[in-house]
Amino acid sequence: MGKEFKRHLITSALPYANGPVHIGHLAGVYVPADIYARFLRLKGEDVLFIGGSDEHGVPITIKAKKEGCTPQDVVDKYHKIIKDSFQELGISFDVYSRTSSATHHKTAAAFFKKLYDEGKFVEKESEQYYDTETNTFLADRYITGTCPKCGAEGAYGDQCEKCGSTLSPDELINPKSVISGGELVKKPTKHWYLPLDQYEGWLKEWILEGHKEWKTNVYGQCKSWIDGGLQPRAVSRDLDWGVPVPVEGAEGKVLYVWFDAPIGYISNTIELLPDEWEKWWKSEDTKMVHFIGKDNIVFHCIVFPSMLKAYGDGFILPENVPANEFLNLEGDKISTSRNWAVWLHEYLVDFPGKQDVLRYVLCANAPETKDNDFTWKDFQTRNNSELVAIYGNFVNRAVVLTHKYFEGKVPALGTLTDTDKEVLAEIPQIKASLEHNLSTYKFREALKDAMNLARLGNKYLTETEPWKLAKTDMERVATILNISLQLCANLAIAFEPFLPFSSAKLVNMLNLQKIGWDEFGGSEILAAGHQLNPAELLFAKIEDAEIQAQIDKLNATKEANEAAAAAAAGVPAPLPQKEECTFDDFMKMDIRTATVLEAVKVPKTDKLLKLTIDTGIDTRTIVSGIAEHYTPEEMVGKQICILANLAPRKIKGIESKGMILMAKDESGRMKFVTPAEAVDNGACVG
Ligand code: 2FM
Ligand code: ZN
Repeated sequence: MGKEFKRHLITSALPYANGPVHIGHLAGVYVPADIYARFLRLKGEDVLFIGGSDEHGVPITIKAKKEGCTPQDVVDKYHKIIKDSFQELGISFDVYSRTSSATHHKTAAAFFKKLYDEGKFVEKESEQYYDTETNTFLADRYITGTCPKCGAEGAYGDQCEKCGSTLSPDELINPKSVISGGELVKKPTKHWYLPLDQYEGWLKEWILEGHKEWKTNVYGQCKSWIDGGLQPRAVSRDLDWGVPVPVEGAEGKVLYVWFDAPIGYISNTIELLPDEWEKWWKSEDTKMVHFIGKDNIVFHCIVFPSMLKAYGDGFILPENVPANEFLNLEGDKISTSRNWAVWLHEYLVDFPGKQDVLRYVLCANAPETKDNDFTWKDFQTRNNSELVAIYGNFVNRAVVLTHKYFEGKVPALGTLTDTDKEVLAEIPQIKASLEHNLSTYKFREALKDAMNLARLGNKYLTETEPWKLAKTDMERVATILNISLQLCANLAIAFEPFLPFSSAKLVNMLNLQKIGWDEFGGSEILAAGHQLNPAELLFAKIEDAEIQAQIDKLNATKEANEAAAAAAAGVPAPLPQKEECTFDDFMKMDIRTATVLEAVKVPKTDKLLKLTIDTGIDTRTIVSGIAEHYTPEEMVGKQICILANLAPRKIKGIESKGMILMAKDESGRMKFVTPAEAVDNGACVG
């Protein structure tokens, strides 16, 4: 028998407010957390679902510098975008606040101060890189150099983005300041460290012995950290953006972002429930679950619990941390800096009213046990072949037929056949499986259960064919539709955690006041005679053109990234291809080989040469803008290619008949297009 809990505290990783959220964040953290919160609320549990923006840390200050604004401007902008888009997607936070708030600064500073006063930190002076031009100590992210592992330039003091290695600034070859580009010196500076080594024994006991039920990926990561031996971790930084270290003599130092961010869960609870927050954080009968991505495991399973343990005072620890792996996009790692992402706020504009489609696809594809891939084709298929063809189709048939044969009133049940009984018996079985999967964080499996309920309904209608019985056996039609409508009501409940917008539509169609988990499984949710509202479609087909537009957008990103990479490597990007032409367009052009007989500069111009050309057809004059690239002497005797049938034009009073074909190299220099071997003048090119 598991422990009994009175309330559920659900936290979801606070996203950094230095960019919008993308599908990777959603699939890994927010969609599963929201499904879990909605499920528990439907069950009538006492739930608190905490969200908020993580507004400190070096990347935010780097972004502000790049954009010429303050870090506060950066976080104000993205906090709003993130908060609004979460709300529109139906992520049902009870509170969504931010770590730049006064409440958070006060809470985080007090948390640090208590540990400091009680001597829970180790104080250490160490040599750190210092930028003499800006007179600042540099955070790891502000230091760049050559990666010692793969040799890539531009690796950071904490990580090489090329090979993914975790680094320390001391390992970088030729370290330089990101801010000034200048050389660095080492200077001593004092910081406070949380001595994780002192918590090793306790963590072993608590996680490795006490939480063997945690997901394999989470348990495995914890085990490898603990077995590798834990080191003291600095909890302060030399930086001017963050929560100031509340200790005398700590000017210019702030709390390390990973120290203050998880305290944000507490601050946000305090902000929502200033008088009751302790009930949520300090009662043994509160079940706390952290929803995070795999890169946050060490902080939520090792560092934050050690902080809470050090603090004492009754703080509870997480019961579970169902961290997910990563979602890729069209086969490539999602990357904010490369703009390789589907951004939530853009999705909401491109697919208005289709929040549930994204929620469905991200849950169906959630990277629960391994990294997974999002593709736009799969998005379309899951919408068209599952949501529209199975769930939407079943509900539509049941409601439309009830309107057709019974004026929209739930018909009464007649005698039940074996098929009817089997269908009704299957509903509670599906409920049990769904409930088990949701309670154990297997959201993909749970979604399959819900879809199986819709499949059951579809199969039932297809097999019983009530539309064929309408002329002969209305009692049978009534029974089939009653059962189908009960299935619809069950579907509205089963899908609510996953697809809340569609469930709300369905609840309205069925004219129900509200739904709860207790009713789920039942076959008498709708009483005979109950009036339904008109049918409306739950889902609409997504056309190829809509998907192609998204693929085109990603292709444009890929091209822009390739051009940027080439430019960084000193190779200019080729011009984009011109508008398509037809074969006939091409055939109109008469391109020929020709030889330059004479060349003279056009007086009073810098660029023009007057060329006398033997075209094999005639001898003619062509004026060409190549004087900056070739002298007249260099031109004489050259075999070239010309566009012979270009309409004659007057250039500086000289009639020019044709155009010389030239290629421009990367520096803008013109080069002749010339046959690889000599041919007669007048030979057609094409
Ligand atoms: O990885 C991240 O995006 C962090 N901002 C998550 C912080 S979670 C919590 F500790 F606030
Ligand atoms: Zn590297």
